Amino acid sequence: MNRIAIYPGSFDPVTHGHLDIVRRAAGIFDSVIVAVTDPGGKKTLFPLRERVELFGKAVRGWPRVSVQSFKGLLVDYATEKKACAIVRGLRAVSDFEYEFQMALMNRHLSKRRGSSLETVYMMPDESYTYLSSSLVKEVARLKGDIDHFVPPAVCTALKKYIK
Ligand code: PNS
Repeated sequence: MNRIAIYPGSFDPVTHGHLDIVRRAAGIFDSVIVAVTDPGGKKTLFPLRERVELFGKAVRGWPRVSVQSFKGLLVDYATEKKACAIVRGLRAVSDFEYEFQMALMNRHLSKRRGSSLETVYMMPDESYTYLSSSLVKEVARLKGDIDHFVPPAVCTALKKYIK
């Protein structure tokens, strides 16, 4: 049985915390599709195409990991890909409420479509619990050092955008 997991997010931009979750997910699923999309109602710094490109560069050569973009409902995309699970990272209690709501909404929607999609939460390494794309962008904007938090291509792209 080919157990496919979808790791969805806006990834604006990808950080080492996201990569840590992909690595963990790839260890327990047969394949992982990183699914990049636009966050509902929020503007992003990087356009969708570039967010996909940057994530793709960061996981180039990783076995059984691919990066794609999608539009529309996550459950529809996951059903189309024949995924059995959605993977999300959980850093702290503050993430919980939003994640809980999303997981139950996705469960409801997938049940209505006759599929059963589970949401699996994974904790990143503790050194990444305070890391977020928003904070990385803020630090970069204020000319702080972000090399420890993001892959080299993201570092270069952030410096270019923020100049
Ligand atoms: O990285 P983010 O911004 O926290 O990711 C949120 C994301 C993209 C996973 C969520 O907004 C999503 O699933 N969007 C796709 C549209 C959808 O299915 N919305 C209903 C979710 S319950």
